[in-house]
Amino acid sequence: MFLKGHPLIKNNKEIEILRRANAILMEILLTIKEAVKPGVSTFEFEEMTNELCERKKVIPAFKGYRGYPYALCVSVNEEVVHGMPRKEKILKEGDIVSFDFGIVYEGYFGDAALSVGVGSISPLAERLLKTTEEALYLAIEKARIGNKIGDVSHAVQKRVEKEGFNVIRDFVGHGIGKALHEPPEIPNYGKPGRGPKIEAGMVLAIEPMVSAGSHEVKILEDGWTAVTKDGSLAAHFEHSVAVTPTGPIILSAI
Ligand code: MF3
Ligand code: CO
Repeated sequence: MFLKGHPLIKNNKEIEILRRANAILMEILLTIKEAVKPGVSTFEFEEMTNELCERKKVIPAFKGYRGYPYALCVSVNEEVVHGMPRKEKILKEGDIVSFDFGIVYEGYFGDAALSVGVGSISPLAERLLKTTEEALYLAIEKARIGNKIGDVSHAVQKRVEKEGFNVIRDFVGHGIGKALHEPPEIPNYGKPGRGPKIEAGMVLAIEPMVSAGSHEVKILEDGWTAVTKDGSLAAHFEHSVAVTPTGPIILSAI
């Protein structure tokens, strides 16, 4: 599988390019987030994304990736990841929507995701968003030299399960660099002290995907959209993070 093998170590110059890639990506992602309101179709975000990529002269990374046809993944409510933008999918008050986006810039990939509520949302939805984002930041804290990937994974799982929610197991975070997906795989569940060693120069895309109900997912007939089997709400946050001697640096920070 493409994620097996030794993690690729990046030098400072490469990390600087990855930082620029992720900064541009985040600018686009935040512009999209600002446009979230009831009545907007998920396809409008796809159009915005393509226009912004052209303006900033960056290449959307997902389009064509394993045959995925769009620049952006837009997943609403029970959709976990890989939701395809659709003209007939109209956001309504109370929905939660996750955007996952990647670009290629000077040969290096940026990858990040965030989830946001549409207008006012239920206390449960609010708690799911907060928990998933907090789980991401707790996991990033563990991306330190001398730790293991299991420490990162466990941090996500612990925070999520404390809330009575569940981590999705069918999708994982990953190394990132000259390829969108590099070793190591970063599951959102696991045991401290297990898995590959975290070393200086690793760049990790850490991405908790969390269900308010069961962790089981199924793929819709479009071949992409992953939804929770029990129809419960799901959220997704992702940052690309560099491991450095002074600690983790969030390359996709805002
Ligand atoms: N963003 C996903 C990830 O973080 C990859 C998207 S797959 C695509 O790994 F096909 F939708 F592009
Ligand atoms: Co990713």
